Amino acid sequence: MNKHTFTFAILFSFLIFSCAKNTNTNQLNNDTYTKVNSLMSLMTIKEKIGQTIMYSGDWDVTGPVVSSNNMKLLRDGNLGAMFNVYSAKKTKELQKIAVEETRLGIPLLFGYDVIHGFKTIFPINLGHAASWDIEDIKKSARIAAEEASSEGLHWTFAPMLDIGRDPRWGRVSECAGEDVFLTNEIAKAYVNGFQGDDLSKHNTILSCAKHFVGYGAAQAGRDYNTVNMGEDELRNVYLPPFKAAVDAGAESFMTAFNELNGVPATGNSYIFRDILRDEWGFNGFVVSDYTAINELVTHGFAEDEMNAAEIAIKAGIDLDMMSGAYKSYLEKLVNEEKINVDLINDACRRILTAKYKLGLFDDPYRYSVNARERETIYKTEYLEAARKSAAMSCVLLKNDDALPLSKKETIALIGPLVKDKENIIGNWAAAGDRNGKAISIYQGIKSYLNDTNILYTKGCDINTNNKSGFKKAISLAKKADKIVLVMGENYHMSGEAASRTNIKIPGVQTQLIKALRKEVPNKQIILILMNGRPLDLSEEDSLTDAILETWFPGTSGGYGVADVLFGKYNPSAKLPITFPRSVGQIPIYYNVKNTGRPITLDNPKEDYKSNYIDSPNTPLYPFGHGLSYTNFDYSDITLSSNKIGTSDTLSVLVNIKNTGNYDGHEIVQLYIHDKVGSITRPVKELKGFKKIFLKKGENKRVVFKITNEDLKFFNGYEFLTEAGEFEIAISNSSDFHFKKKFELKVNY
Ligand code: NOJ
Repeated sequence: MNKHTFTFAILFSFLIFSCAKNTNTNQLNNDTYTKVNSLMSLMTIKEKIGQTIMYSGDWDVTGPVVSSNNMKLLRDGNLGAMFNVYSAKKTKELQKIAVEETRLGIPLLFGYDVIHGFKTIFPINLGHAASWDIEDIKKSARIAAEEASSEGLHWTFAPMLDIGRDPRWGRVSECAGEDVFLTNEIAKAYVNGFQGDDLSKHNTILSCAKHFVGYGAAQAGRDYNTVNMGEDELRNVYLPPFKAAVDAGAESFMTAFNELNGVPATGNSYIFRDILRDEWGFNGFVVSDYTAINELVTHGFAEDEMNAAEIAIKAGIDLDMMSGAYKSYLEKLVNEEKINVDLINDACRRILTAKYKLGLFDDPYRYSVNARERETIYKTEYLEAARKSAAMSCVLLKNDDALPLSKKETIALIGPLVKDKENIIGNWAAAGDRNGKAISIYQGIKSYLNDTNILYTKGCDINTNNKSGFKKAISLAKKADKIVLVMGENYHMSGEAASRTNIKIPGVQTQLIKALRKEVPNKQIILILMNGRPLDLSEEDSLTDAILETWFPGTSGGYGVADVLFGKYNPSAKLPITFPRSVGQIPIYYNVKNTGRPITLDNPKEDYKSNYIDSPNTPLYPFGHGLSYTNFDYSDITLSSNKIGTSDTLSVLVNIKNTGNYDGHEIVQLYIHDKVGSITRPVKELKGFKKIFLKKGENKRVVFKITNEDLKFFNGYEFLTEAGEFEIAISNSSDFHFKKKFELKVNY
């Protein structure tokens, strides 16, 4: 045993001894606090600052390359965390250096972007949100945590909880869409799924709610761009999912790259100290986004990097991802009395506390076990779960009797994404394999059809002008019963730094659809889409007979999509984000304000009304839209009362009957409209949803409960309800007219 291992052993026998006395959560917290403090009493200021520094292990590149000399920092005991490095072997190797070669042997924290799966990749987050299946999303996070933790990871930079209302922004693919209520539910599911019920278990990982806050509102949908919004929008729309994450126990937060009302998020003590810590009581740790601390200089908010470090630590940012500013300047800032050393102590304490909670001080290698890694990665049950999630995330946007496919039909299978195994897992696919592991749509369809029934050709590329494949595509289409096209974006076209001004299907793909429509006019065309954002599908909508939005469906995507195409899974997903008619309608979302001059009909010709002169206001496909192979009939919507008091519960009942020819799931949505407010309220707000299953011919009574809590909003000063009239509806999408009302009475 060398001298360092010896120090570690002494320190930890003391810590383990105190751990044995834990009997309840409070005591555990107190014990953790005591243990952290006793460890910190041994630490130099340099070692404490070391805990506030994180560098990339360079196995993956998720930002500008920065030279960091991270191995020297690690050996000197001046590096608290690493990211972009994984596998049981590699993490163990690095952890050994931290534990056995440094003075105090403090274990490293390994983070990574485990966004929609780790190895087994689930549909991109926007796609999975379309399932509205909270349990399934939670399960996907649990599986991701199982796999990631078996490769030595302790912490994921997820969930991403930005509200996304601008399809030009590439990062809408990572979020849960445009709606607050749906995003809140999904926030809790991800946090609970990643963190499980006991962080000290070796298969649970810390979650990280990001990006705090307002990132989704970047002007013009251009990534990293400026954000300006009033307190109303901030509190009612952008903050709630983060509050939901805190309430669910999220252990960490990440800053956003944008400025918010003139103050960059990474230097914004209003959001991090006043709201997150003081108002919401968050006591986990905050990490900056990648190089975001030194970007305070570029923003024009800090004079230089030293000033940037000062602003960030004062704003409550505990861990510096990649900027180097904390490493270079925190000690100097203390020496020059620009910051109080307590700021460093607080940051270090929070990070060490997370390491304790993970059990790293009991056994720093517990996450890096080769045998568990081998048993865990790509388990059959995980691949099966991913197949189910892919099916549950496919939104049937349009269907004029073209789907489902029958096993007897011959199909012309055309498009650049038919055989794709690279793009299908989407952007931010963590350690997911792009070289063959994923199931292509071709393979999925082949599992239902004989080879002779599939006439395949690529037809064109995703994003070039090459039309040389059109001829063959047309000739195959002529020989088939139906034309099935698999088209869309490549995975680089969404995600970080992937904003688009044109949200049409790229390249000559739409031209190929036009050519097929023209040359083979009597055959049904089914368009299967892969993409990471709402696209402008106005042309495709008029050229095709069915459109199935599969997003990027993940490792088992081909099977999941084929299950939908052949009716094994009757599509049930609903759009979590509006699909516009054209880029000119953006931002477009369902829960808008009425304005003083709303249009009565969707009529572009009305004078002096809030409309366009060249387009309807309505989108192509609204939020909440998604078809099924069967029909669900909604009737007898009844309210338990037409007046409620603030302590009452309103029951809202609806009768739903499956009147079609297939069994299926339906996502039943409840919306309200608070008609008059001390600040104006949106014309519609989702306040509940339920996924139900009905066999053909079956009938169900579905009940929603609404309480005062559900009706609250932030009025500029506080969250409250105001007495008055509310409209209420239960519907299969956000496209409906209210017919029922109730009144909220205060002191009733
Ligand atoms: C930058 C991204 O904004 C963030 O979401 C991600 O977690 C980090 N890079 C780390 O890769």
